[in-house]
Order: sequence, then structure tokens, then C-alpha cells
Amino acid sequence: MATRPSGGFLGRIMARKSVAQVQRETEHSELKRTLGPWNLLFLGIGCIIGAGIFVRTGNAAALHAGPAVLLSFLVAGVVCALAGLCYAELSSTLPVSGSAYTYSYTTLGEFAAWIMGALLLLEYGLAASVVAVGWSGYVVSLLGDYGVVIPPEYTGAMGHAIMRDGAQLVQNGVPVVGVVNLPAVLVCLVLAVLLVVGVSESAKFNNAIVAIKVSVIVAFIIIGGAIAISNFGELKANWDPFIPAATGKDGEFGWGGILRAASIVFFAYIGFEAVSTAGQEAKNPAKDMPFGLLGSLFVCTLLYILVSVVLTLVVNYKNLNVPDPVAVAVDAFGPQWAWFAKIIKAGAIIGLTSVVLVLMYGQTRIFYTMARDGLLPRVFSTVHKRFQTPYINTILVGAVTALAAGLFDINTLGDMTSVGTLAAFGIVCLSVIWLRATHPDLPRGFRVPFYPVLPALGILSCFALIFTVEQRVLIFFAWFMLAAIILYFVYGMHNSRLARGEDTVDAPEMTELPGPVVD
Ligand code: ALA
Repeated sequence: MATRPSGGFLGRIMARKSVAQVQRETEHSELKRTLGPWNLLFLGIGCIIGAGIFVRTGNAAALHAGPAVLLSFLVAGVVCALAGLCYAELSSTLPVSGSAYTYSYTTLGEFAAWIMGALLLLEYGLAASVVAVGWSGYVVSLLGDYGVVIPPEYTGAMGHAIMRDGAQLVQNGVPVVGVVNLPAVLVCLVLAVLLVVGVSESAKFNNAIVAIKVSVIVAFIIIGGAIAISNFGELKANWDPFIPAATGKDGEFGWGGILRAASIVFFAYIGFEAVSTAGQEAKNPAKDMPFGLLGSLFVCTLLYILVSVVLTLVVNYKNLNVPDPVAVAVDAFGPQWAWFAKIIKAGAIIGLTSVVLVLMYGQTRIFYTMARDGLLPRVFSTVHKRFQTPYINTILVGAVTALAAGLFDINTLGDMTSVGTLAAFGIVCLSVIWLRATHPDLPRGFRVPFYPVLPALGILSCFALIFTVEQRVLIFFAWFMLAAIILYFVYGMHNSRLARGEDTVDAPEMTELPGPVVD
């Protein structure tokens, strides 16, 4: 049994699950250890490559960094690597389910775990909406190639100008404004239905999707790279200046713009930590987790930098603020490559669909774990008798992600996701320091090198990047966190099973759900 926490208010909100307790919860799992290092690497890449590179790079280059967006990728990659090292240490020390939420519950205590749950809602739930909006951009573009035109006001965020070919769309002399992004709503709803009936990705399926995504990106780099090299004399003008001069407006070009763009393209790396959720299914977590986490980050950083080089050489950065920048770049290769643009769009659509699915899946499982701990109402852990999935939870997640994807623009949603994830990564780095101080003797399969410098740098760099986003996003984030804190004191704190001295392993609704990557 868990022990009832004591020690007044502070003792109460800092109540921790013991390491032994989370290990018992893990033992309760019947998941098989089937994943080797390459499966984990592919799992990471499968979650990482999505709307960040296929969509948000364009906006970051066009409005904030220019060709220097590749430096932004480097900055964001380094920040993620610092967090990745910390994830690697935690996942090799506590190979438990629930990832960052459980790490926080075990190290910093219940209040921190609750806050982490709120941040993960941005990292997974809201990110699913962002990727759905990116998916919609490529679907509208591909359908357009085949003459199927969706009325433009139903392809964009409410009240936002609809863009086509880098400019605002005008019909009968009137600028077209979005009503709802219908394709984005539909993809969220359809995927929620699939998750309810129990479709989750198997390792083989994930590997196939990764192969498609990586192949289209590598083909883009090779073909685009060859075109850029053979026309370098003419194209090098697109890199002049490489760092456009700051306009004086916050985050618009210059070094400030590179950092703002880093917080935008940071989105492109989100997902590598999904590797740490497979701790219970890894054959050799101590060695394979760091390989999967850091290896997937390394591969993606390399691909992202090469894509940005091609993108900003073949198209002037000013023309990249479009829903499908990679396809726009292929259009610039010349009319003989029109077939390749269609392949790129189809590859992006397949890749983005799987990312939405994985993110929604992750969100439902975080809610499930929190409900099992009593921090959310039981309805979130109610499992469908026939499908064995948390169906009410999944329907709710589907409805909320669809609503956000239908009404809001990708930049606002994406910035909120980046801020939430950066804060979550900062807390993970802090957890490493806490665990080393409080449990120095726990066996650790992997240890962050240069401790405590690297985890401390991780915390600092995550928080520094948070403050490069637009002020209105920061204000929204502050309100979101305030609401989360109030909810904890109104609901979570009073219903927590840990507070009542109950053991989550004995929870009546504890059912082993199918894992994300079991064959
Ligand atoms: N990193 C993922 C993407 O770019 C979330 O879509």
C-alpha cells in the first residue's frame, strides 16, 4: 500500500509516489519486452517528423529568421538534446509508464505532477490540433492539384485571412476569411473513432510510416540539393542577406528573430521523448533508451537543417509563409517535377496522419493514468467493455482537439504547444537533479554527463526559449496555468488516491490497455 502523506500543506502537495510503488505499477504491466534499439529510434523519428518541418519552418523563415532558420533548428536541437539527456537518465532509472507525469510524481511530488499533466495537455492534445491543421493544408493543396476545390472559407481558422500562393486570397474583390477548418476537424474526429475501436500503431506499421516520411524528405534533400548546387550562381541571391536585418519589431529578423524562430521550430522536435514511454517494452532500457532518444534527435536535426538549406535556397524566404512550404519549394524545382510535388504532399499527409494519431493516443493515456491516480474524474479511466479502450476520454480528446484545430490558426496553437513543452522539459531536467540529490544510490542505466552543469543548462535554456515567444501567447499561457493551479486545489488535491493512502495498483478500473507499439 501507498503511505498516507503527512506534514501539513506543503507535505500534502509535495506527496510523492515512492520509487517502489511506481516500480510495482510497472510490474503490474504485462507488456512484452519486444523493442530493440532500432525500433526505439524509429519510434522517436515517427513521432518527431510532422507539421514542424512540413509546415512551421515556412512561417519561421518568412516572418522571423530568413535563411538563418537553419541556425534556429540548431538552437532548438541543442535545447532538446539537453532535455533528451535528462529523459534518458530518468527512463533508464525509472522505466515506468506515464513518462514525464510519473517522473514528476515520483520526484517533485503531486502538485508538480498535476502541473506536468497540464503541460502535457499542451504538448500532446494541442500539438495534435497543430498537426491536424498542417494535414489540412497539404490535403487542400493535393486535392487542388486534382481539381477538387473545398470552399476556401472552410479550410482555415475562424476570422483569419485565407492564404494562397503566399498572398491573401481575394474573391470578387473581397478578401476571403476563414469560418472553420473543416478537413482538420474531420481528421481529428475520424482518428478519435479509430482510437476508440482500438487502432494504435504497431512497431511494424510505425516503421513503414517512418520509411515513407524519411524517404520523401531525403528525396527532397537530394533532388533539391542537386538543383541548388547546379544553379547556385543564381540562387545564392536568396541567401543574401543570410541573416536579414532586424526590423525593430520584436522577434522580426536579426538575432532576436533567430531565437523567436527557434521557439517556433522547436515544435518540430516534439515527440522524441515518446521513446521514454516505451520503457516497459524495451529489451534493454539502460542502453537502448539513450540510443533511441538521442539518436532520433540527431537524425532529425540533420534532416531539418538540410531541408532548410534547400528550402531557403530554392525559394526566397519571403514566399514561404504558406500552408505547404515544402511543396512550394518543389514547384520551384520546375514544371518537370510536378509529379514529385504530388508525392511530397501524399507522403506528408500519410506522415502527419500518424503523428496526429500518436499524439491523441498519448493524450488519452496521460488522462487515463491521471484518472487512475484519482487526480481526474473516473470517467477518464472508464474502459469500453468490448474495445478495451478508454472511450469516453478518447471521445473528449477527439472533440477538444477537433474544436481547437477547426477554429484557431496554426501559429497560435503551435506557439502554445512549444511553450507548454519547453516548461515540461525544464521540469524533467529539474527532476534529474532532484532524484540525484534524494536517491543518489538508485541504479542508473544512463547518467547525464557533466552533472549538474548539463541539467542546469537544460532548465535555463528551456526557460530562456519560453520568453522568446509572442507576449500574447505568454499571457494566454499564464491564464492556462492559473486555471490548472485552481483546479488542483478545487479537485485534484481532494480526490488523489495517494492522499487517501490508496494504492493505484489496486484501483478497480485498472485495466491493462494495449500499448502503443506492441506487435
Ligand atoms: N514534432 C511533431 C511535428 O512536427 C509534433 O509534427
